[in-house]
Amino acid sequence: MRQHGANVFELASQYGFPLQDIRDFSSNISPYGPPKKAMTQLKNNLHLVTTYPDPSYQALTQSITEYIGVDARQIVLSSGTTPLLKEAIQLLHPRHALLLEPCYSEYAYELKRLGISISIFPLKAENNFEIDVEALISLLKEQKIDFLVFANPNNPTGSIVTREAIKKILIETSTFILVDETYNEFTDPSLYSAIELVHSFEQLLVVRGVSKFYACPGIRLGYGVTGNYSLLKCLKANSTLWEINIFADVMGQSLYSDRGYQMETREKTAEERLYMMERLSRLDGLRVFPSAGNFILCRLENGYKAEELREHLLKEALVIRDCSSFEHLTASDFRFCLLSHADNVKLADAIESFLLDKAKEV
Ligand SMILES: Cc1ncc(COP(=O)(O)O)c(C=O)c1O
Repeated sequence: MRQHGANVFELASQYGFPLQDIRDFSSNISPYGPPKKAMTQLKNNLHLVTTYPDPSYQALTQSITEYIGVDARQIVLSSGTTPLLKEAIQLLHPRHALLLEPCYSEYAYELKRLGISISIFPLKAENNFEIDVEALISLLKEQKIDFLVFANPNNPTGSIVTREAIKKILIETSTFILVDETYNEFTDPSLYSAIELVHSFEQLLVVRGVSKFYACPGIRLGYGVTGNYSLLKCLKANSTLWEINIFADVMGQSLYSDRGYQMETREKTAEERLYMMERLSRLDGLRVFPSAGNFILCRLENGYKAEELREHLLKEALVIRDCSSFEHLTASDFRFCLLSHADNVKLADAIESFLLDKAKEV
């Protein structure tokens, strides 16, 4: 089994914590959701468990298209982002793919499983993992790359590129681009989302899900947007009848119209990110990388290990992501997501106490 964020059920039984006492900073799920209106809809519709969903998902599709401003014919629904990433890679079956590393491990997993050749565009710590778009375009051309997949913002680095930059890549290359916008709604999508570009470029697929921003990983809901109708046809033909369960359908109809919730989540995330960036940047023994997401990547200095910090924090039921398993990161790297202010303060205090203890050891 592939491991991503923490398995909180396993940790609860291993450490003897009640599940609700665990503060999961490892899964990048917003602490502000799910939106109350969507939860009320869910509760009011539990009786629908005895009913098949509308196989055309008309109401759900309409709420998504109104939210993102595309035609209903340009979207495909899916049970989360993950199956869509997998299916798109399978269908496109590129010859030569490029990954911006470090990145979400599922891309490489899927490409390798299909035997597709992969080149790496390394994002470097010395440049705060920033994405140099000119250099990226040159590499795409030089190596005749026909497929690029990246998350915007990128997980785990938090690096981001603007829609204008993505447009430039689309204009200057013939590479097919799959943009994973799992974390995009935490930013300002009017600047950073590539969705609008599907109206002008066929070599683009944008995927999104509800797991992180809407804090609903349990319902498994996602969608893809593209102006490439032959790809859409294949993606739709591949989808299973009633693929989206009725509760995802019900919640999805309410999530996307909740503008108040969306604005508030964005604002609070920005405030908490600033608080944690400022607070942790002052600590000796820690490097904090800028992030546009709802998570922050850090590097322990002086050879301290992220695994040791993780163990230290677990005593207080605080769970971070030790990033040593990410390609192109080190055993000293860890990532945490932003939770409530009180929880973030607790995490910052605990990281500070770990660093103070370590400093005393020398
Ligand atoms: C970049 C990225 N894409 C996709 C996913 C999975 O999303 P979903 O729950 O919609 O399948 C994750 C989960 O961690 C992620 O970090």
